[in-house]
Amino acid sequence: MKTYNWGILGTGFIARKMAEALPLVPQSRLYAIGSRNLHTASEFAGQYAVEKAYGSYEELARDPDVDIVYIATPHNLHYENTILCLSHGKHVLCEKPFAVNGREVRGMIEKAKETDRFLMEALWTRFLPNLIKVKEMVDEGRIGRINLLKADFGINIPFNPGHRLYNKQLIGGSLLDLGIYPLFLSLLLLGKPKTISARAGIGETGVDYNCSFTLGYEKETLAVMYSSVVAQTDITASVYGENGTIVFDNWWYMPVPAKHITQDGKTIPIHEKSVGNGYNYEAAEMIRCLEKGKTQSEMMSWEFSILLIDTLDAIRREIGLVYPGHDDRVIK
Ligand SMILES: NC(=O)c1ccc[n+]([C@@H]2O[C@H](COP(=O)([O-])OP(=O)(O)OC[C@H]3O[C@@H](n4cnc5c(N)ncnc54)[C@H](OP(=O)(O)O)[C@@H]3O)[C@@H](O)[C@H]2O)c1
Repeated sequence: MKTYNWGILGTGFIARKMAEALPLVPQSRLYAIGSRNLHTASEFAGQYAVEKAYGSYEELARDPDVDIVYIATPHNLHYENTILCLSHGKHVLCEKPFAVNGREVRGMIEKAKETDRFLMEALWTRFLPNLIKVKEMVDEGRIGRINLLKADFGINIPFNPGHRLYNKQLIGGSLLDLGIYPLFLSLLLLGKPKTISARAGIGETGVDYNCSFTLGYEKETLAVMYSSVVAQTDITASVYGENGTIVFDNWWYMPVPAKHITQDGKTIPIHEKSVGNGYNYEAAEMIRCLEKGKTQSEMMSWEFSILLIDTLDAIRREIGLVYPGHDDRVIK
């Protein structure tokens, strides 16, 4: 059985989560780390027993022994890092948001097709056992038609204009980093909306510190959501069906329990067994797909990632948030 050599680009928060998760992923070995700085890469390599440490992303992409690259850099680099790795024949798992806008995402997908490599957006929640169970329950009609969905994700992050969530060059703002999760849940359970409306509180660094957005569906169904980088919100999600409700515990986008409240008031726990820190599941899906010779995952397809980014673009048009260097970028 083949062992896949993983490389990680970036050495920040999420890179570390994946380094902790990979030992639980079948046929996987964390082989290389790439940083803008060799010292940082070497420190990371020492901490996680990684064989190769590179002081640039290009060097990692050029290493012929790297099979898969996990892109763990800020949003502004997702497009160029993905193109770099695909161009060097690597399979790519790229953090959410897949890129800044629909044109960048389509450019990445075109490159994956051209190079015949696997490409997937690392929206880890999609692969968590409880979320998979909830999706199954909704698809089986266990709560009937969805009448209303509400979900939020806000964290009160101490103000620092250089922090990637406040900095416009690093594509700061709540929507693309946190709001993407509630939006993902709505699109997963309800599909493409008929209407999109949004309001934002744009802060002094020019990005959305608060954002609220509502999707309209068939009949009277609504998905009502908000995100924030200046308010610690409840981080809950509830799906109200005509025959019952599904309520996730706080920090709903993580591996946390949920419950099914039936129409006659019974509460049934939804508590699928989960192992590791949760990031192992998206990586395991990638290995499953590669073993089957696939270039995309049916669970997080290119079509779904396009729906997600197109909806984010539509929300950004509503709130008037433009990211120079990306929204005016010419994709060849
Ligand atoms: N799935 C999740 O649960 C989850 C959670 C958090 C974040 N994320 C996603 O992961 C990505 C990275 O987030 P993070 O929280 O890990 O960020 P972070 O802690 O700031 O780390 C980002 C890393 O990217 C590299 N980098 C390259 N250019 C940079 C620049 N101009 N400024 C800062 N860092 C730069 C740095 O590594 P080197 O200096 O070593 O090159 C840095 O350590 C984001 O796209 C975010 O949406 C996902």
